[in-house]
Amino acid sequence: MKLDLRSIKSEAKDELEKTPDLRSLSEWHSKYLGKKGVLRSLTSDVSGLTPEEKKELGRGVNELRSFLEDIYSSSLNSVTSIKKDKSLENFYKTLPGKKPEIGHLHLITQAIREINEVFSKLGFIRVRYPEVEWDYYSFEALNMPKTHPARDEWETFFIDLPEDPKLGKVVITPHTSNGQIREMLKGRLPIRMLNISRCGRRQSDINHVPTFYQFEGFVVDKDISITHLKGVLEYLIYNFFGKDTKFRLRPYDFRFTEPSFEVDVTCGICGGKGCRFCKEGWVELGGAGMVHPNVLRAGGIDPEVYSGFAFGWGVERVLMMRTGLKIDDIRYLFENNLKFLEQF
Ligand code: PHE
Repeated sequence: MKLDLRSIKSEAKDELEKTPDLRSLSEWHSKYLGKKGVLRSLTSDVSGLTPEEKKELGRGVNELRSFLEDIYSSSLNSVTSIKKDKSLENFYKTLPGKKPEIGHLHLITQAIREINEVFSKLGFIRVRYPEVEWDYYSFEALNMPKTHPARDEWETFFIDLPEDPKLGKVVITPHTSNGQIREMLKGRLPIRMLNISRCGRRQSDINHVPTFYQFEGFVVDKDISITHLKGVLEYLIYNFFGKDTKFRLRPYDFRFTEPSFEVDVTCGICGGKGCRFCKEGWVELGGAGMVHPNVLRAGGIDPEVYSGFAFGWGVERVLMMRTGLKIDDIRYLFENNLKFLEQF
């Protein structure tokens, strides 16, 4: 019996030395120390033994068990630590890591920043005024009395709030021209204002969305003439669209400017040939003109001493007319479809 135990011991030890991984280690464990293992089988039939022999066998088996358990646990340690070392061997310090995806600014925000940059070179200062506004600032003070039919063109959203006896109803400002009055009422001259803000009108088609952005340039100083207006417009157009773009001023009628124009550029989508967006090759960017004396008066400025010009254009239009960006439906800009937005 003694011999038997000794040979099991050395056999088990030899075998354990050949276990390269966790799997073979656990096979070894069940072979020797498992429920149906070698050690159990040694004591499964002791019927032919004297009490003395039983005792001796029990002691021998216990000794062997603790030996086997010891060598098993140290093997287990070394196998798992070898594993750790291996994973370190595969660690390349110079391999670039995986970068988490980060987004970028929305196309319109990019355009707003760019517009701001171009204007700041001309000395314009960016301001922001309320987007939920009183009728007075959006219409009345801009030389559009309450019942004037010209208001219809601004398809305005009215907010269901009590009317103010002086300032009238609450509206979502349909244009950035409310900024003209608010800027003048600050009482600082001369003025070189850039007001960029969200506007709202009841309209929706490939050319219009109910909420869009405008930027308003507004200059008031002594001796401001139409040549200043034309010079600034030219500067903007060449900066935004490049020198190949042509522009034209079409006489128009705004109540808050006199004379008034609409500014068109050759379509950046088709290059002026005519397409589904522009139809005839020209795209209207917005209005412009010399500030009406009544508007200056509403801002507390004497029209005999000061004069000014103003223009208000759509941010999205300017963006869409940029040559190279073939966006032919303004609604894409507001759908928040990542497949579209990620391209810019
Ligand atoms: N506010 C006008 C519009 O929304 C544009 C404009 C601004 C016209 C300034 C003249 C002067 O259509």
